[in-house]
Amino acid sequence: MSTNSDVSSPTQTARLELPGKDPVQLPVEVGTENEHAVDISKLRSQTGYITLDNGYGNTGSCRSDITYIDGEKGILRHRGYAIEDLAASTTFIETAYMLIWGELPTADQLETMRRLLTEHELLHEGLRHHFEGFPPYGHPMAMLSAMINACSCYHPELLELEDEHHFEEATAKLLSKVRTIAAFSYRKSLGLPIVYPDPKRSYCNNFLHMMFSLPHVPYEPTREEVRALSLFLILHADHEQNCSTATVRMVGSSKANLFASVAAGVCALWGPLHGGANMRVIEMLENINAGDQSVDQVVEQVKKKEYLLWGFGHRVYKNFDPRALILKDAVDKLLEAKGIEDPLLDIAKQLESVATHDDYFLERKLYPNVDFYSGILLRAIGIPVNMFTVMFAIGRMPGWIANWYEVHKDPNGRIYRPRQVYTGPAKRPYVPLEERQ
Ligand code: SDX
Repeated sequence: MSTNSDVSSPTQTARLELPGKDPVQLPVEVGTENEHAVDISKLRSQTGYITLDNGYGNTGSCRSDITYIDGEKGILRHRGYAIEDLAASTTFIETAYMLIWGELPTADQLETMRRLLTEHELLHEGLRHHFEGFPPYGHPMAMLSAMINACSCYHPELLELEDEHHFEEATAKLLSKVRTIAAFSYRKSLGLPIVYPDPKRSYCNNFLHMMFSLPHVPYEPTREEVRALSLFLILHADHEQNCSTATVRMVGSSKANLFASVAAGVCALWGPLHGGANMRVIEMLENINAGDQSVDQVVEQVKKKEYLLWGFGHRVYKNFDPRALILKDAVDKLLEAKGIEDPLLDIAKQLESVATHDDYFLERKLYPNVDFYSGILLRAIGIPVNMFTVMFAIGRMPGWIANWYEVHKDPNGRIYRPRQVYTGPAKRPYVPLEERQ
């Protein structure tokens, strides 16, 4: 395939030559940051060919205005705002608002959002009883996905979003209740009484209050803990067409409602290759800390392909994940503020140092991703490991909502339905039961 940019025509085209076919010209689309894509939407009708791309590493599924990543340069921007600026200057709710509605909120818009989040922070009491049915050892991600769908049973009016007001209400419910569901499932797993949200508290402070307050022991999260949690959520808020966001768009493309679509996103995020990696990282570091393995032994196992280095590698970032750099610095600051040391941090830094000076990892462009240091930050806040991926889901909720809404509003939207290359048996006759061996 060759591309030519005909100066007389405003658009570029790619010339594709296929065996036994006349050459075709395919439109080349150029994105805001000069990314180039060959538009193959007419390829099959023009040539009878489809493309094949295992894991979609080279395939754009959509046009999107939400997030831009340059994996070679370690650039992450949401609606044009650099992640470094958002991490340093915004609250999670400001970033969430901007992701969903496209602009940073004014003071009035932010106040309205905060009021809506407070208004919708409680769960219907009928929902509360669902927690009684879960066993204490139930996985929090299973509970989260189930309870998001169960939530929609109490709000049937939000299954068909007719207007902006409906969407705003559904968004506020999801952003607010996802915290309450997560905290209730944690308390349930410990057999503790649930703690209702406190309308006087900020988004992150309220979550920590619901997680850790006890009737007989006063609890107030420190300013540093609340700020660290807000930063964690900002860094997880959206990330282009990752597996779980692509899942939310896929489900939403069938015109499934917002609750069903993000519940599916929770399930995709659960996998250890995706959001579940933040739990695997801590397990890996704890094994090393317990003396079960040394850093060098883990690295050797990885190089023999007996083990994945959890929290390392990324489909898009090939030099560094900007979020990992910010999280590493945030961990240092929080531990210092709390006057504590975490041996897992020293092990993580040692592992990073060994791996990033080893040709095996350098050749494969493997560096720490968002999950490598995030768990150490959550540990320092007091969040238990089995809640780590739930925390990722709370952070990613605005990104999922923003992407679902982009699909929902798209006047040219089509149901996502990839093609395939069939590799099974050719046509063969039916064999009656009595003749089968
Ligand atoms: C997230 O997409 C997103 O944006 C995701 C995310 C988000 O914000 O939504 O950023 C969040 O999911 C981060 C990733 C969390 N997962 C992990 O930490 C799990 C460990 N990482 C790997 O499983 C892997 O790196 C992936 C899944 C993240 C990426 O997989 P790819 O792009 O399919 O990479 P690949 O399998 O093609 O790897 C290329 C080579 C292979 O070796 P060779 O066959 O060339 O010899 O690198 C190796 C892989 O075996 N490799 C690793 C490795 N990751 C890749 N080897 C050891 N340890 C690893 N972690």
